Parts: sequence; structure tokens; C-alpha cells
Amino acid sequence: MKAENGNKRETRFFRVSEENFDDILDKAAEIIKRGGTVAFPTETVYGLGADGLDPDAVRKIFKAKERPPGNPLSLLVHSREDLGKVAKNVPEKAFRLMDAFWPGPLTIVLEKNGIVPEITSGNLPSIGLRMPDHRIPLELVKRAGTPLAAPSANLSGKPSPSLAAHVLADLAGRIDVIIDGGGTAIGLESTVIDMTVEPPVVLRLGAVGIDELENVIGKVRPTYMGAEAKDGEAISEKQAGQKYSHYTPDTQVVLVEGERKKVSEKIGTLLENYLLEGKKVGLLISNETAGFFASEGLSAHGCFLLGPYEEPEEAARKLFEGLRTLDAKSLDVILADGSFNPSGLGAALLNRLREAASIRHAV
Ligand code: TXA
Ligand code: MG
Repeated sequence: MKAENGNKRETRFFRVSEENFDDILDKAAEIIKRGGTVAFPTETVYGLGADGLDPDAVRKIFKAKERPPGNPLSLLVHSREDLGKVAKNVPEKAFRLMDAFWPGPLTIVLEKNGIVPEITSGNLPSIGLRMPDHRIPLELVKRAGTPLAAPSANLSGKPSPSLAAHVLADLAGRIDVIIDGGGTAIGLESTVIDMTVEPPVVLRLGAVGIDELENVIGKVRPTYMGAEAKDGEAISEKQAGQKYSHYTPDTQVVLVEGERKKVSEKIGTLLENYLLEGKKVGLLISNETAGFFASEGLSAHGCFLLGPYEEPEEAARKLFEGLRTLDAKSLDVILADGSFNPSGLGAALLNRLREAASIRHAV
């Protein structure tokens, strides 16, 4: 397989099963030990792993993803013993977070040890660590005997992959192995918390919510897009912790937030107007909003259902697949439904929708 920018490698694709698990994991670990790159599922999204302590291996990740140099990678660890190797001066609160949320969808930023190469940490004095709640990366870290640098396994500028097919579409010919372990359970990237500052700063919102964090360690400062300070003041984008912008599809996304019935009506009005202007329109909507359209006799050029609005977990799982599917249809605009229940994963879902959108309507 061929790829641009000097990325030219044969990508092997393995579908994992109970029978071949050991064999595939041994092969993949061998490739990591030799400085290669392996994509695999985690409970959040697919990751692209390489030996996080080997600068040459880590360079291959940046090259395959076309990731801007300087954007720090996080490390996947398999046990608390790995931790002492790569981090130092770990605050007591960070251990409490590990007790509460590891293995799981929480990346904890800590002071890094000298052993972690500059390229891995993006020249920062800190490093993000996560113990994933998934058998494949845990085994891979264990068998390879090294923490894995593992960003999401997408090309920079594309949505994170929730299916092996997404990894194949972005990285075939650029990496050594893809392990297909099926769809990811959560579908959105982990929550990232910086524990090197006080109060700790939440840089990205994932399945672990602000309230859950505060129940364990007290006050935190959310700085991701759309976050609100506890006094109700919106956090400005300038304050936002994410230096590197998140995914925005090539197709313009128009998000409608607010009361459910009004959201359906507003999306209906916008759809009618865009169609009158001769635009090709895609819909990224709840089942209920789709039901509304069926009764109104409106139809778009593409429609991706995210599930019932009371089930934000399902919508989160499907979101990146929906954005990829619609973005591939050469549409002029995607109308997105922001009326999912904002509790639980709903808050992270809304954050990703806001990041993807260039126009937002509140009704
Ligand atoms: O769920 C996840 O975290 C997935 C799976 C594969 O583990 N990984 C992932 O990696 O989303 P990535 O590289 O796409 O996102 C990691 C985020 C980035 O926004 C990065 O800027 C931030 O964590 N990050 C990593 N190390 C950091 C550090 N030392 N200081 C501040 N931010 C850091
Ligand atoms: Mg990413």
C-alpha cells in the first residue's frame, strides 16, 4: 500500500478472537519491541501505539498521523509499577483518582521522569498517563514491557476512530498493524486532568465527569470548550486548555441546542431553507427528531441517527461514525441535534458537537 509523505509500509490487519488472541498479541508486542506501530481498540477510541520511551518509534506516530510536532502524546500503562518509571512527585490526589477511575477513561497529567523522551511529551515537563479498561492494550503494554505512547489512531484533523474500519481508512500503508477488536464501548476520548497545578485543570471532558472528579479530589477547574465555571460564567476559548484545535469536519456543521421540540422544529426550518437554496444537507439527529421529519414529509441528502435522546451513551458511541459517514457524502452542510440528555456522557457528547460546529443556534 502507498501513502504520501514517505509513509510506505505494509499494514497487516488482524481480527482478534478468543482462539487467536495470544498469537496476535505476541506478534503485536514483538513489533512494538522492534520500534513499530500498532493500532488497537481501547474502551474509549482506537489508539495508535509505539514504544513511548523510544524516540524513533514515537517519531513514526507523528509521521503516520501527520500530527503537529509539539502536541504531547499520552502514555498507556499496565500497572502502578510502570508509573514510578515515567512520573515523579505524584500528588496524593492523583493516587485517589487512580483508585477511583483506573483502569478507565481518565488521563492524568503528572510531572515526567527524565526517561520519557522530549518528543513523547511535546517538550513539556509533564506527561499524561492512562490505564485503559481494555484487555488488548493492557496485554500489549505488558507483553511489550514498555509504556505505549498512544494517541487516537486517526489522521490529524479527522475524528477519532471508534471502529477498525476508521483506522484502516486513515492509516493503511502508514502503520505496521491494525488489531480489529470491534467497536469501542465509549466512543469518545478520555477525560484529561492536569494534576501538576492546583486546583487541577480539566483539559478535556470524556466519560469521567466534573462532579465525579470533584467527589474524589475536591475542586477542579474545567477549561475545555463550552465548560462553565461553577459561578456560571462561561470559560473563554482563550482560557481553554487545549492548544491544538479539535476535529472540525470539512463539511460545515450547524448545531441546534435547546428544548427538544423546538430543536426539531428549528432543524426542520433550517433544512427547508437550505434545500430552497439548492444546498445538499445531511442530518445528524436523534430518533425523535427523525420521527418529526417523517411526519413533516421533509427529507435530506443524508441522515445518520444517533439514537434516542434519553440515551446519550448510544449517541456518544455513534458520534464519530456519524460525522465520518456524513462528511464523506460531499454535502454542503450538516445539521446536528444538540438536544440529547446532558447527564453522564451527554456532557462530553455536547462538547464534541460544539467543537465540530461552526454555527450554533440556541432555541
Ligand atoms: O481516550 C484516549 O485518551 C485515547 C485512547 C487511545 O487512549 N487517546 C487520545 O490521545 O485521545 P490523544 O493524543 O489524541 O489525546 C491526548 C490529549 C491531547 O489533547 C493532548 O494535547 C493532551 O491529551 N495531553 C497529553 N499530554 C499532555 C500534557 N503533558 N499536558 C497537557 N496535555 C496533554
Ligand atoms: Mg486525538
